[in-house]
Amino acid sequence: MKKLRVELPENSYDIIFADWDSEIFEKTVSAFDRGGRIITVSERKLQKLYPLTAYRYGELFLLQGTEEHKSMEEIERLLDFAVEKQCDRKSMFIAFGGGIVGDMTGFASAVFMRGIDFIQVPTTLLAMVDSSVGGKTGVNLSSGKNLAGAFHQPKAVLADVNFLLTLPEREIRNGLGEIVKYAVGLDRELFDKLEKNCTGLNSLDIELYKEIIYDCCAIKCRIVQQDEKEQGVRALLNLGHTFGHAVEAVSNFEITHGEAVSIGLVCAGELALKLGMWQREDLQRMRDLMGRLNLPSSLKKEWKTDDLISAMMHDKKTESGKLKIVLPTAIGQSVVQKNIPVEIIRQTMEGCCE
Ligand SMILES: NC(=O)c1ccc[n+]([C@@H]2O[C@H](COP(=O)([O-])OP(=O)(O)OC[C@H]3O[C@@H](n4cnc5c(N)ncnc54)[C@H](O)[C@@H]3O)[C@@H](O)[C@H]2O)c1
Ligand SMILES: [Zn+2]
Repeated sequence: MKKLRVELPENSYDIIFADWDSEIFEKTVSAFDRGGRIITVSERKLQKLYPLTAYRYGELFLLQGTEEHKSMEEIERLLDFAVEKQCDRKSMFIAFGGGIVGDMTGFASAVFMRGIDFIQVPTTLLAMVDSSVGGKTGVNLSSGKNLAGAFHQPKAVLADVNFLLTLPEREIRNGLGEIVKYAVGLDRELFDKLEKNCTGLNSLDIELYKEIIYDCCAIKCRIVQQDEKEQGVRALLNLGHTFGHAVEAVSNFEITHGEAVSIGLVCAGELALKLGMWQREDLQRMRDLMGRLNLPSSLKKEWKTDDLISAMMHDKKTESGKLKIVLPTAIGQSVVQKNIPVEIIRQTMEGCCE
């Protein structure tokens, strides 16, 4: 069993890496059980794959579990269910699923009776390395992605890498998009490790994934400890995301979050090159790694640049209408760049088309 502690001024918690069936998880859940009703929040696919887990704690509530339904209506449905089951302020939600289930359950626990406890049990690679840690929760609005939300830290994150064994190959790539983001933006050593281990990553070497998931959580932990509410350094975790969120929106979520982040990394890399912020060799190294991991790296012709730009302007990363984009400056380093002229962004995106 391995553990990481996220130390925060209030609401510190552990990320525990172990088997879901183990005693450690049992003990952790009972340690946070304050005697109120527990609701396990999940989705149909996981209920079918892991019925014992889904029904293990309290009542089971199933979300639709898609980006289209990452919505206020679904949150209301969950909150009404919690009222119906007589949940109170001592109740706890357990998020059993990927990033969508985790973000939504976290948001519902942030607002139910002005805030109750919740535990994250991430089941996708993306959720294990990123979304289950750090306390960002939320839903989409029709005007844009993740535009309603709250910072609400979980009581614990219980990560069992074995859930990856049933994950479709495309969802592994999805998580790899965020992993490459950490490496390019924040950690050169992780980048070197990924370069050396493409074969293992492509063949779902579970021991290797254990290590990489731990590394990514350690990076996220370090950043969140420094800047819980994204006033500064946490923004660097959004490398690839301003372009990425636009891609998700313009493709009507046909492109998954991690795939969109991959494409976003290439756009950010090309933009950084245009602005003279990093070297061509670094961009090539990133592109090579992404190619070896079969990650998408270009914008589709059918997406109109104007639509992408207008989606970018609606993203949370704008400040007074000006675009603020995270750009790499070397492998393992990045900065937040403000006031980038829209024309340069347009040219960059046109250059990134397939
Ligand atoms: N809060 C954050 O800090 C943060 C960070 C990154 C991403 N996100 C959000 O996370 C979401 C994406 O999360 P995701 O990539 O996990 O997507 P997801 O939750 O949609 O899961 C992807 C797919 O995998 C299936 N699945 C889940 N676990 C499985 C398993 N063990 N075996 C087989 N299938 C399984 C799901 O049914 C779904 O079809 C986005 O909405 C994104 O905005 C949030
Ligand atoms: Zn992300």
